[in-house]
Amino acid sequence: MENFTFYTPTRVHFGKGTIEQLHKETVAVGKKVLLVYGGNSIKRSGLYDTVKQKLSDCQIFDLPGVEPNPRVTSVREGARLCKEHNIDLVLAVGGGSVLDCAKAICAAACYDGDAWEQVLDWSKVTKALPLGTVLTLSATGSEFDAGAVISNLETNEKLAIISDLLNPRFSILDPQYTFTVPANQTAAGAADIMSHIYEQYFCAVTNPVSDGLCETILKTIIECAPLLIKEPENYDARANMMWASSLACNGICSLGNGIRPWPCHAMEHELSAIYDITHGVGLAILTPHLLRYALNETTVERYCHYGKAVFGMAEQDDRMAMANEAINRTEQFFTSLGIPNNLTALGIDDSRIDEMAEHCVKFNPGLDKFIRPLLLEDVKQIYRNAL
Ligand code: NZQ
Ligand code: ZN
Repeated sequence: MENFTFYTPTRVHFGKGTIEQLHKETVAVGKKVLLVYGGNSIKRSGLYDTVKQKLSDCQIFDLPGVEPNPRVTSVREGARLCKEHNIDLVLAVGGGSVLDCAKAICAAACYDGDAWEQVLDWSKVTKALPLGTVLTLSATGSEFDAGAVISNLETNEKLAIISDLLNPRFSILDPQYTFTVPANQTAAGAADIMSHIYEQYFCAVTNPVSDGLCETILKTIIECAPLLIKEPENYDARANMMWASSLACNGICSLGNGIRPWPCHAMEHELSAIYDITHGVGLAILTPHLLRYALNETTVERYCHYGKAVFGMAEQDDRMAMANEAINRTEQFFTSLGIPNNLTALGIDDSRIDEMAEHCVKFNPGLDKFIRPLLLEDVKQIYRNAL
């Protein structure tokens, strides 16, 4: 096992009715709150009114309209409001996009330059406002991690910003707030959670503790996601999916695994930067192609281990056949949730593959540390295979 340092300061309030913690958590920081949210989902569900009512003695400033694949323009607007009103706490109510936007706002509100400069250079995040979150979609893990992903439409870039200062101070995780998530977002969320695990599981150094955590989360999603498409208000399945989403992305599942370059995310962020697609859908399409590309005599046993542990496959003498079956089962799982298995179905062609691959390799220098080292031509080929 490799050495590691792990830090996660977020206070998690998990379960039915945990919104009752919101007032105490908020006023412990202050009474001037920037309320960040997306489209209308929290108004339709009544959560917006609940939050306003719980914080009725606070001064609340709204930042509505945060887009899926949140834009730096929304971050700038949020930072402006924080500075103008001397905000004490940023409260994000929504899915990963809202939480990510709020994180970047927390940083930009304490910075004199432009918000995009901090995305390009994380050392410019030296101070941040405290963040609280109320999660409404299980997918990204943003509620329990230090990262955010921000899009810049002017430069066609979608990039991560990561800092310990961006961990939420508290996160309220009530699975009931995910009852209204539509089937396509439930599927995309499942694919995102699983991809977070694959990024940490298919790596050169592994250990049994990490494997156990990863495999349990994968099996949980494989069980819960199809159920939730049929029964969106199944509390236990929503609860399992929510907790799985939080655990899958904050690093805890792969402590001791050494270098984890996250190639699928690196490649997907290029797709959503240019085509504005749903993150989990892009991941579900790329994953089988990436796994097939990385399968060779050196890596084959990892795939067989995965097939046995996650899908309960029997051992086979033909190791390549077994590994390929494990990949095919992964692909079939995603298509069974209604996600296409090729980029063409999303209207994506080969016209921008070179540009995406070059940007991907430039901004993700660790890709050559993947179980099969990935260089520029490899990334281009995986995109082509996924068309
Ligand atoms: O905008 P509203 O009206 O709220 O609707 C949203 C949005 O249209 C809707 N939704 C959310 N909760 C709902 C709901 N609809 C009905 N009922 C509810 N309870 O779902 C749509 C998608 O929301 P979004 O927040 O975009 O989805 P998600 O949580 O998947 O977030 C995706 C973003 O997170 C980034 C992705 O790249 C993408 O930009 N990621 C963030 C990470 C992180 N911070 O650690 C890691 C991830 O790998 C990922 O890159
Ligand atoms: Zn993701």
